[in-house]
Amino acid sequence: MKYFIVTYGCQMNVHESEKIAAILEKMGYSEGSSREEADIIVFNTCAIREGAEDRVFGNVGNLKKLKKKNKDLIIAVCGCMTQKEQTAQKLMNTFPFIDIVIGTFNLPKLGYYIEAVKKGRQLEILSEGDIDESLPYKRTSGENAWVNIMQGCNNFCTYCIVPYVKGREKSRKEEKILDEIREIISEGKYKKITLLGQNVNSYGHDLKDGVTFAKLLRDICAIEGDFTLSFMTSHPKDLTDDVIDAIAGEEKIEKFIHLPAQSGNNRILKLMNRKYTREKYLEIIDKIRAKIPNCRITSDFIVGFPTETEEEFLDTMALVRQVKYDSIFAFMYSPREGTVASKMEGQISDEVKHDRVNKLLSLEKSLQKETKDED
Ligand code: SAH
Ligand code: SF4
Ligand code: F3S
Repeated sequence: MKYFIVTYGCQMNVHESEKIAAILEKMGYSEGSSREEADIIVFNTCAIREGAEDRVFGNVGNLKKLKKKNKDLIIAVCGCMTQKEQTAQKLMNTFPFIDIVIGTFNLPKLGYYIEAVKKGRQLEILSEGDIDESLPYKRTSGENAWVNIMQGCNNFCTYCIVPYVKGREKSRKEEKILDEIREIISEGKYKKITLLGQNVNSYGHDLKDGVTFAKLLRDICAIEGDFTLSFMTSHPKDLTDDVIDAIAGEEKIEKFIHLPAQSGNNRILKLMNRKYTREKYLEIIDKIRAKIPNCRITSDFIVGFPTETEEEFLDTMALVRQVKYDSIFAFMYSPREGTVASKMEGQISDEVKHDRVNKLLSLEKSLQKETKDED
């Protein structure tokens, strides 16, 4: 019996798929090399932009012929996209050959749904769930081991679907994280640990036991062994001096910060509910550069947020020029149903969004070239 997992979205989803693999292997499945030879295919989906969802509809649709050939093939769709009940229902209705559709909080019960499929199609979306500590991961990322430190997000950036599909922030207990890392290191196979969370800097706020992200970093570095430590993602509003000092002072921590700015314009940042200004963001960049020489800094930007004028977009271009990032990701704003920004007046046309994203990406390219020429 073979399984095949198709993963969309962020690193956290990649890591969730490692859990799916572990669940399936525990049930006696082994990893297949293609959809064609699989007895079960699992789609672990992402809802961050419309394009990600369209790809799932297209790729799931393509499985119709496989299911025709093999009536016993099980097709399951899970992840952030199916956490939205309407989308889950639409998938079920559009593709009668899908067997299981579950949300993000149902994942620990995947084995149960696979068993239950004998009795009929399974559709269930739980609205909440605790972090699952009971199942191991099948680590699939070479020398790097992903370690989840928290789930969910409390920030409600007005464009973003994550808080709706991943729930409120929940941090894992520090002791559980340290135990997991000790075990990973003692295996001897892993040279790098990457901590994962939507907003790692607010790690521990919900635990109310005094543990902070900076303390967690220091405690991990105190574990004996030859490894480097990395993390993502940092929200500028919560990146404290204490964390910057930990990165500067701890040899094991990689000198790299992904610090998404999203926009270089204060009016847009406010509308996005990012809770920092351009000036505050630049202050943090200066602090990082002063305390951690040679620190690599990367960022994400959204262009074409509702009401963004050309002039305001140029503030983003200017910020990118000023910070001289090591690299950036640029996204066209994609309205997500249920979010505040999707209901705002002044939605920007696709044509303008395309134009702005192209301008930003060519600026990025020319800046990359300049730094290479300097080297
Ligand atoms: N938690 C991280 C980001 C997670 S999503 C953070 O706060 O930075 C990854 C990136 O997708 C975001 O940084 C943002 O740039 C982009 N993104 C999120 N929602 C989007 C949307 N509706 N349209 C376009 N891009 C979006
Ligand atoms: Fe989304 Fe903002 Fe949370 Fe990041 S911090 S996951 S962009 S709501
Ligand atoms: Fe990640 Fe996409 Fe979900 S970016 S958290 S998989 S919506």
